[in-house]
Amino acid sequence: MTGDRPGSPYHCVMEIKIAPSLLAADFSDLAEQIGTVEAEADLLHLDVMDGHFVPNITFGMPVISSIRPVSNLVFDCHIMTTNPTVYLEELASAGADIVTVHLEAVPDPTDAIKEAAALDIGFGVVISPHTPFAAMEPWIESCRMVVVMSVHPGFGGQAFMPEVLPKVEQARKWVDFHGLETDVQIDGGITPDTAPRAAAAGANVLVAGSAVFGNEDPAAAIRELRRVTGEQT
Ligand code: DX5
Ligand code: ZN
Repeated sequence: MTGDRPGSPYHCVMEIKIAPSLLAADFSDLAEQIGTVEAEADLLHLDVMDGHFVPNITFGMPVISSIRPVSNLVFDCHIMTTNPTVYLEELASAGADIVTVHLEAVPDPTDAIKEAAALDIGFGVVISPHTPFAAMEPWIESCRMVVVMSVHPGFGGQAFMPEVLPKVEQARKWVDFHGLETDVQIDGGITPDTAPRAAAAGANVLVAGSAVFGNEDPAAAIRELRRVTGEQT
């Protein structure tokens, strides 16, 4: 699905990618749950939390490696732990395709960028709602993806924070101005109501947990997110 962005200086066509967050799935049967989105999703968003960087604990490498054989989706691993970069090699072995880390945990990811390149995995930086765009600016060119959190990290099902949209606009302008292919992801509170605003601001990867796995038909929920963002002209 594509959409023109009149606000962009280049008026380029942007393909929207949908990344369902497994955090909102039924953990009793992950293979079945992944099967419900396999044909429609572009990436599978995997939220790794340690109960220290954020006040919640989810899953880690054993779960990622267990689900790797049941999916061909790009595994987009959002690491919400203290010292996230020490896990890069294990995440790569478990089947991560992209690893994103918070700049609040790793203000200077220079070494992690090099290690991810050596491991042949994509690397990205994430900023929480209170962190300014300027924190990610130096790293965008070296990243496959940059992520603007539109909720406070730690839990699914929270309300979208529209005040972060200017940071999405700044990231999109930076990427376009420098002719980069870096994806601009938004994570948190994405629904058919909020997705069009995120896409209009310049996000081309939309993470959606409860809006997808909370729907009785997750594939239809993804199609709906595509439909509403495809209307961005
Ligand atoms: C929050 C996570 C999000 C979360 C999104 O810390 O990073 O990826 O799963 O869930 P929803 O779409 O329900 O806000
Ligand atoms: Zn996430």
